[in-house]
Amino acid sequence: MKERIRKAVFPAGGLGTRFLPATKVIPKEMLALVDKPILQYGVEEAIASGIEHIIIVTGRGKSAMEDHFDVSYELDAMLKQKGKTELLAVSRGVSSMARISYVRQKEPLGLGHAVLCARELVGNEPFAVVLPDDVIDAEPPCLKQMIDVFDERAGSVLATMTIEGPGISAYGVLAGEQDTTNPRIYNCTGMVEKPKFEEAPSKQAIIGRYVLTPRIFALLEQTKPGAGGEIQLTDGLKALAREEKVFGYTFEGKRYDVGDKFGMLRATVEFALKRPEFAEKFREYLKGLEL
Ligand code: G1P
Repeated sequence: MKERIRKAVFPAGGLGTRFLPATKVIPKEMLALVDKPILQYGVEEAIASGIEHIIIVTGRGKSAMEDHFDVSYELDAMLKQKGKTELLAVSRGVSSMARISYVRQKEPLGLGHAVLCARELVGNEPFAVVLPDDVIDAEPPCLKQMIDVFDERAGSVLATMTIEGPGISAYGVLAGEQDTTNPRIYNCTGMVEKPKFEEAPSKQAIIGRYVLTPRIFALLEQTKPGAGGEIQLTDGLKALAREEKVFGYTFEGKRYDVGDKFGMLRATVEFALKRPEFAEKFREYLKGLEL
């Protein structure tokens, strides 16, 4: 089995309650990290990893995402008329970035349900899932690293990172053994969504990047509501691990949970410090603060 990963599903139907009041009207995926909506970071990562077709699972009140990736005729015409060629290139670049399809998740029934909504657009081929809340700074991109593992091992791949202490309870947690030849790979035997600290099967937290075989769809269809009364992707993956090879992969790179207010603050400071146009000025400003 060596099928190319061409499609990536972006679940973006959630309500974003962790970021109220900013997300009362604005979809959390459209919140800016420095100057770019967080959704665009994920889309750029997917494209840089070889993905050709982006599938965004949207919900009520989320049409700003579609407008963002569409042509903004009035804006482009105005920028052209004023001779603002660099900004015009930025605006046009966003609208010609990728082939993007949208599907509505009519009710927020959980992450597993959101992925299932993309079934018809994905079809019967392996695919990626990107949770836009998790912005990952990595070179090569996290998803590319995972696709390489998928190609080599011919099994589904879940991104993981080591979390020490009770913080692990905020994640899906992997059960399994570290691979003997590659310490970044775990041979997954099961997993638990948001376990109590004492019950976590390992320190390997699942992060929002997945490369999955299409078998997951049939399994999600049979998945009953789990943690928080939601149809959990983790529960579908647990069933997948009983039937097929599933690997955890400790990616190289740094992950930011930008769906969380503190996570967004950290990412804002660190991403701003990497931007050549104002890194120096910003560093000087931070140094001058009385902390
Ligand atoms: C989701 C998944 C969880 C995973 C996490 C990573 O949870 O259900 O398994 O560990 O994303 O960000 P959420 O953060 O949406 O509650």
